[in-house]
Amino acid sequence: MQMIETSFKAITLTLMISSGVCLAGPGSVDEGKALFNNPGLGDSTSDKSCNSCHNNGTGLEISLNNPKIEQQINRCIVGALQGEALKLDSHEMQSLKKYLVSLGE
Ligand code: HEC
Repeated sequence: MQMIETSFKAITLTLMISSGVCLAGPGSVDEGKALFNNPGLGDSTSDKSCNSCHNNGTGLEISLNNPKIEQQINRCIVGALQGEALKLDSHEMQSLKKYLVSLGE
């Protein structure tokens, strides 16, 4: 019985990790990448996406160690994209952050 319970726990944990629910929180790298290439991000009024200036995220690998990454993302959304800042706990912000951090991993 003990063994069955243990393997059940292991399976549940694996499922949670692989679906990104347990450790990763809301949002995903894939969504972040799509948003990075989306010119409509943050109700942007320009025709630019993040990718227009940061081609494939080149140069943004340092985001991994940037404690102010959210502020920087919003700076570029407001300044470069002419859009509106995202809420820090929004799904979009969390996805973008995950995408950028993944570049440096
Ligand atoms: C019009 C060009 C342009 C666009 C579009 C743009 N950026 Fe930037 N970005 C810059 C420039 C220039 C810098 C460096 C100077 C600064 O910090 O403003 C920068 C800096 C950054 C940095 C900080 C890098 C570091 O040195 O730590 C991040 C992160 C970043 N951008 C993310 C984004 C994201 C996410 C988007 C889309 C919402 C975006 N950028 C859109 C031009 C742009």
